[in-house]
Formats: sequence, structure tokens, C-alpha cells
Amino acid sequence: MKTGEYLLQEVREQDSKHLWHPWTPFGGPGISHLPLYVSGSGCHVFDAEGKKYLDATSAALNASLGYGRADIVSAVSEQMSRLMTFELAGASTVPPIQLATKIADLLPPSLTRTFFCSSGSEATETAIKMVRLYHRLRGEFTRNLIVGFRGGYHGATCGALALSSSAFNQQGYDPALTGFVIVDHPSGVTGMVTPSEEAIARLERVLDAEGPNKIAGVVIEPILGIGGVRIPPDNYLKLLRQLCDRYGILLIFDEVLTGFGRTGRLFALEHWDVVPDIILLSKCLTGGYVPLSAITTTDDIYTTFSQDPLLGGFRHGHTNSGHAAACTGALAVIAAIENERLVQNSAIQGKFLLDGLRSITATSPDVSDVRGLGLLIAIEFAADDDGTPLATRFAKGAAIRGLLVRQQENIVTLAPPLIITTSECGVLLTTVGQVFESLRR
Ligand SMILES: Cc1ncc(COP(=O)(O)O)c(C=O)c1O
Repeated sequence: MKTGEYLLQEVREQDSKHLWHPWTPFGGPGISHLPLYVSGSGCHVFDAEGKKYLDATSAALNASLGYGRADIVSAVSEQMSRLMTFELAGASTVPPIQLATKIADLLPPSLTRTFFCSSGSEATETAIKMVRLYHRLRGEFTRNLIVGFRGGYHGATCGALALSSSAFNQQGYDPALTGFVIVDHPSGVTGMVTPSEEAIARLERVLDAEGPNKIAGVVIEPILGIGGVRIPPDNYLKLLRQLCDRYGILLIFDEVLTGFGRTGRLFALEHWDVVPDIILLSKCLTGGYVPLSAITTTDDIYTTFSQDPLLGGFRHGHTNSGHAAACTGALAVIAAIENERLVQNSAIQGKFLLDGLRSITATSPDVSDVRGLGLLIAIEFAADDDGTPLATRFAKGAAIRGLLVRQQENIVTLAPPLIITTSECGVLLTTVGQVFESLRR
């Protein structure tokens, strides 16, 4: 009979021996020293040693409802018992119909038609193919270039990677896919914000140089999420919409990370009142309970695909496109977001956290900026002094004190579940204050 401690040792050895972790440096032989989480409840997760953490990462900005929601589990389980899924190629099931209808109800009226996938990367790939074939079916054979932004992140698959701009993510995977043009974002990585008109004029020059009738689509996150919570200047997305309209280019908003309440609005597009031709959704759509992504577009784009000479529809899809139990999970998560007024909570708690963090860091020479919208907040650290980025030291100090944050280069992102309470935000701020104290020592 294995005791708990022995079993734990064995699991850690198996982790080190058999599990290949994404985006993780190899730990070498022996037992794994990675944190091992075994349960969760509300905004907290517990590791194998029983230590409790307030999770301000939301498990890769996923867990909108936090952990351990019996209502979501029972909705998904009930659907799984009845009919876990059936392929949507040439057939239908009820949950994806209901979810597509619900998404159409929630989005601006022109966005009516949803295609489902399982991840954000698949959503990006789907949008790339959708945009290219759309133009071709309308007789615009030269339009196939897709524009993305420096600092953007759209996924790890080959097309999504080519559309994102990170040299770290791309190096060694040559040859990169062609047909992508990467341009500067107005809220650049240097911290300098280019005024909207100037940034649009710069973009227009790039489009003109490429040949405007060669551009199929522009893909942008309304707020760059993984790229450090970079918020565009106020009029930018509106001007971008106008530019795309002028040039006959489709505008795609990647709201995989920002959608379903993360930024204090149901969709980040509401902050600027700009409607794209295609929107990509995932993460908070299902709160991490099931994998699912949605690509929602207009009637015009949908009906154009009926002209495809080979199928009379979209020649694209995945085994689990519109997985019935996943769609049921999303419907249950959306119901909870609505019933518990979590979008409002995201705005209220986000403002409380942002104000608190600004006040804690106001005089800190270590911090160059604190920014955010809703429960998507970044602390940008000043250049480090001794080789270990301050943000790394901050994240380690936070974990020791029972707070999990997301750290990348010199930026720490705080994105707790949308259910977080004012008193939990208070604990979070107290912990952040203690970590800053310890950094100074
Ligand atoms: C804006 C955005 N798009 C796409 C993706 C890729 O999603 P996934 O990791 O589910 O493939 C991410 C992941 O963080 C994202 O933030």
C-alpha cells in the first residue's frame, strides 16, 4: 500500500520522466520540482503539499469562474451522459446551435454566424483561411496577405506563429509561413504611445507599399494581452476600422484573451465601440472547464462561402469542432457570468486593484508603469540591476507568500478569476505590498 508521500514522490518522478511540458525549460533528471497543483476552489488552488494560493493567473487567463464549480461540472456531465458529441460536418447537435445563438445575441448585431474550434490557435488558423478564401470567392485573387502587430500573440500553430511577432517563439521553426506582414502597434514595446492618427498614417504607408489590393485582413487584439497588456490610444481602433473599410480589408479582433468579461466589458470592443468583421473568442468563454473557441462573423462572409465551387461551404473543420459537451459548458459559464454580474464585478474589482497597485508602486523606482482594464492588469518593471529581472524576483516572492502571478520578461500580469471579491483583492494588494518591501531589502 502506497502512502500519500510515497505516491507524491512517484508522481514527481513520472513527471520528470514522461511528461513534456509546454513552454518549460527541461528540469534535468530526477524528480520534478515544478509546482504540482491538485485541487482548487473559488479563486484558490492548492498544491500537493496542501499550500493554498490565490491565483491571479486564472490558469493562463482561463478560469473566469474560478475552480470547483459544481454547476458547470453537472451541466457538462449531464450532456456527456446524454450525447458527449457528434460531428458537425453534415449533421447537428443541440448545444452548438444554442451556443451560436447565444453568442449572436451577445455580440453586436452584424456578427451572426459562429464556427467552433477547440483552442485560440485553431481560431486564428480558421480566421486566416476564412479571410483568404472569402476574397478569392469574390474574385479578388490577389488578396491573401494578413497583417498582424508587433507584440501580438495569436497562438503557437504555424499560421498563428507567423502572425505573432515573437522571435523567441519563432526561432528555429524555419521556414516561416509566408503571406504575413507585421506592423508596429501604437502602444509599442518601448512604452511610447504613438498618437492614433500618426500610427494609422504609418500603417497606411505599409499597406500602400505592399499593395492595398494584396491585403486580405488585419488581425489585432483590442488590447495586447500576452504582449504586456498594451492598450491602444483612444481613437485607434475606430481609425483602423475606417482604414480597413477604405481598402476593402477585413478586420479581425482576436478576443481570445479579452472576451467574456476579462476587461470589465463583455467584449473589449465595447470600450471603443468598434465592430470587426470576425471576432475570435476562447478562454473566459468556458472558464477553462472545457476546451473551446469560437470564430464569429457576418452573414456576408458566411453566405460568400456558398459559392465555393468544390463544396458550396467552408472546406475546413476539426474532429471536435462544436463539441457538444464543450458547448454545454460554455452555455453554463455564460449563464453564470450573466447571473452573477461578473462583467460588472470585473470592472469594479479591476478598478479597485488598479488604484491599489498604483498607490503601492507610486514611489517605487522599480516600477515604470501600472496599466490595465478590468481584471487584466500589468505591472511593468524598470530595467533590472543584477541580471535577474525584477519581475522574476517579484513572481517568486509572490508565490512564496501564496499569490500566483503571470510573469514574462519585465512584466507581471495580474488577471484573477472574474469572481474575485473585494476582500480577496485586499489580500492580493497586501501581498503585493509585502513583496515590494522584500524586493527593496
Ligand atoms: C489573444 C490570443 N489569441 C490566441 C491565443 C492562443 O490560444 P491557445 O493557447 O488556446 O491556442 C492566445 C493565448 O494566450 C491569446 O492570448
